[in-house]
Amino acid sequence: MAVETGRRTPTQKLAEPDLGTELIPKERYLSPEFMELEWGRLWTRVWNLVGPVSDLQDVGDYFVFEIGPESIIVIRSETDRVRAFYNACQHRGRRLREAGSGHASELQCPYHLWTYGLDGRVTWAPDADDFPQGDPIGSKCLAELRCETWNGWVFVNMDPGAGTLRDFLGPLPEHLDPYDFEAQYHLVEDISMLWDCNWKVGVDAFNEVYHVQGIHPELLSFTDDVDCPVDILGHHSRFLFRVGYPSPRWTDELARREGYRDRHQVTAMMRVIMEGAGLDADAFDGRLDDVRPALFKAKREHGRRNGLSYDALTDEQLTDDFHYFIFPNITLNISADHFWFFRHRPHPTDPERMFWEYQTYVRLPAGVDPPPRPDRIDCVFGDGTEQKLHLALQQDAAAAPPVQAGMRSRGYEGLYLAHQERRIRHFHRVLDEYLSGG
Ligand code: FES
Ligand SMILES: [Fe+2]
Repeated sequence: MAVETGRRTPTQKLAEPDLGTELIPKERYLSPEFMELEWGRLWTRVWNLVGPVSDLQDVGDYFVFEIGPESIIVIRSETDRVRAFYNACQHRGRRLREAGSGHASELQCPYHLWTYGLDGRVTWAPDADDFPQGDPIGSKCLAELRCETWNGWVFVNMDPGAGTLRDFLGPLPEHLDPYDFEAQYHLVEDISMLWDCNWKVGVDAFNEVYHVQGIHPELLSFTDDVDCPVDILGHHSRFLFRVGYPSPRWTDELARREGYRDRHQVTAMMRVIMEGAGLDADAFDGRLDDVRPALFKAKREHGRRNGLSYDALTDEQLTDDFHYFIFPNITLNISADHFWFFRHRPHPTDPERMFWEYQTYVRLPAGVDPPPRPDRIDCVFGDGTEQKLHLALQQDAAAAPPVQAGMRSRGYEGLYLAHQERRIRHFHRVLDEYLSGG
């Protein structure tokens, strides 16, 4: 699916649907039966974002995507075509490839050596004429799934009757095409971390900023967690999180406690942002509230000087976190110079565990060669790898297991959500539509 550049990401606030007020029952985070239901009605029917197109640059490049009991090989079969196959040999069912990525001119099964072309057809098998039901060469194929690409991402769908990816994405291309992720951003970090919580605890954690004052108080002097407009975009959603502007919760009292004169004094954290944008913090004589407009200007100049193309982006996109959620499990924190990609992947057998997958992509100046693709790090939260993460993400990761643990209590029934947490409510509503077969 082609990306349409030359447009601007819409920023106008949209009218919102009535999402109701019911408690979200906790069983969906705990029960193996609910996990089964999700497998049968969600994961096997929805468009799953399986990985970046940049991992499939040459014909024969592939990676294995695992979800639930399934393992899927995603491979560039032709210069202009990416295909997805269930990772199961058509002879006796052996997995053809282990998890990971690689390059192959053909896919040979390690068991009895059946060999498949990149189009999935059997091209060779030992003693092929020994099959009374018919020679498998040319007649047997790997089972193929629907596979489409958009804006640097590969999506697959296990449901042959599903609508198109474009229908599924709804308004997202209008919003995200201007970033032109595939051309403009490059992968520099890739971590998969086991968390002790249901995958929806991961989704929920990143769909609201109500928790900023609780677990990220150090953000309050330079982010606005109160005036944070939410938009519902079909099955998906976003909020616009102002960066370079203080929260109304950043009060004189709080500022003084942190050693500042009052809430208007430019803070050390804000100075870091200013300097990153090429703004001389020492020469700046405005108040904290004045920084953001100055950042807009400085950032454009900084981009021009450093060969960074911001032409397709609005001023707000230069500083703020344009925060999108792609149903059912992708979170994007997008800024002009980099974006964070999170995927909240369910554990194959345990509803109380998940894989939180984290990638960072950076925008490079024109003419600069992208760095080599980083190796993927597979780890468990608490093994020390989390210290590579931004402090706020360490805090988010540490907050997730206690949420899961509390939900197990007989004294807890379900999520009692604030209006500002309505992206969570919307996510569960769309999930319920899938689960009810709608
Ligand atoms: S299971 Fe693959 S060749 Fe036998
Ligand atoms: Fe957070």
